[in-house]
Amino acid sequence: MALEYSDKVREYFLHPKNMGEIKNASGVGKVGNPICGDVMVIYIKVEKKKEIEKIKDAKFKAFGCAAAIATSSMITELAKGKTLEEANKIGLRDVAESLGGLPNIKMHCSSMAEKALKGAIKNYEEKK
Ligand code: FES
Repeated sequence: MALEYSDKVREYFLHPKNMGEIKNASGVGKVGNPICGDVMVIYIKVEKKKEIEKIKDAKFKAFGCAAAIATSSMITELAKGKTLEEANKIGLRDVAESLGGLPNIKMHCSSMAEKALKGAIKNYEEKK
């Protein structure tokens, strides 16, 4: 049976936003899923103004299924303009909701996007 993807998932899969990489990124998070073999990388550029650190830009690369591409693209959209604390709270369900829902068996793809963003933030914090 074909998977039922929402229009938003299709849109983000066919025309992903923020695809690519950020040269000299402030932080990079990479996640691989040993079961499906898919890989996601998220890059963030952090800007500090008056002691507040915000994600100025975010990009992604994904080698994976349609949901992997749509969720990593969406999470970069959600992360842009947020403080690190706010971005760290973006969960797999927020991403799925912003995409108009995901089939249950595709929630792990959204979980990868969450982990990749958290990984990028952690990488930034560690480098400081
Ligand atoms: Fe692997 Fe979607 S099936 S990330």
